[in-house]
Amino acid sequence: MTNTTLPPRPTLFDFHGVSMTKYFTDNWENIQSFKARPDDILIATYPKAGTTWVSYILDLLYFGETDCRSSVPLQERVPFLEISVPSRPKGKDLADQLPTAPRLIKTHLPVQFVPKSFWEQRSRVVYVARNAKDSAVSYFHFGRMNRVQPEPGDWSCFLQNFMQGKMVFGSWYEHVNTWWDQKQTYSNLHYMFYEDLIEDSGQEISRLCCFLGLSPTAEQRELVQTKVTFDNMKQNKITNFSTVPMMNQSISPFMRKGRVGDWKNHFTVSQNEQFEEDYQNKMKNSALVFRNEI
Ligand code: PPS
Repeated sequence: MTNTTLPPRPTLFDFHGVSMTKYFTDNWENIQSFKARPDDILIATYPKAGTTWVSYILDLLYFGETDCRSSVPLQERVPFLEISVPSRPKGKDLADQLPTAPRLIKTHLPVQFVPKSFWEQRSRVVYVARNAKDSAVSYFHFGRMNRVQPEPGDWSCFLQNFMQGKMVFGSWYEHVNTWWDQKQTYSNLHYMFYEDLIEDSGQEISRLCCFLGLSPTAEQRELVQTKVTFDNMKQNKITNFSTVPMMNQSISPFMRKGRVGDWKNHFTVSQNEQFEEDYQNKMKNSALVFRNEI
């Protein structure tokens, strides 16, 4: 894909009450009729919550890093279900063609948009959530470097839009809460936090294994833990998205900081005060407690 054939930046529009762009709605009927299988594992997140990290953990736990897979980038091993960008394979087709069992499938869809068959088949779901402030910062830099995203504008304008849910995949607040509600009635859903992974990846991997019924040997676990560190994933062309032409990593790398609390380098004091007030209001009925620092 050359510069001239890169897709144009999209604009947001209201799609059944959620801000979306055409790159995630163009293939809608096919996505909605996706045929999930009982052993599929859906990795669901609001963007920038650690999807790639958890995808690689699960990929390694199930399949290891064999020679024949060693050149297959993560975005092909774990297809992004709803993506539909001109001149690129559609995520839904990649998912249909996955040769693995289980199939690992990524989505950022709000819970009400997830294809029905995942619930009907009782597929397992791993939801990863990240605190709102770091999510906003990460999403801002992602918008700068990725042409599949709308123009992010400047930081202060982006932050206002984030608070108003004018983001691709809608409101962070609604996303994390409605997925949390889903967990209360759908037992095959494991809800985890980026901050916990940062604090103790070994413990979070153990919890994932418990949820998935996996018993890796100490050696396998050690290997997974080493391969999924931020530095190793940043260097690894399988996981750093360096092969994706729509991303200009010289503007901002996909594997950017990988920390909790980077928001402090972006929020002014007054932005933080306004954000906090709005946050308390939007999250007042939520049982979720996020950590903005560890
Ligand atoms: S996407 O585009 O929505 O799928 O992005 P996603 O993978 O969900 O999130 C990207 C952010 O996760 C960070 N990341 C990691 N942090 C710590 N350790 C590891 N191994 C790791 N892998 C990915 C990545 O750096 C992005 O966060 P920021 O804050 O921008 O650095």
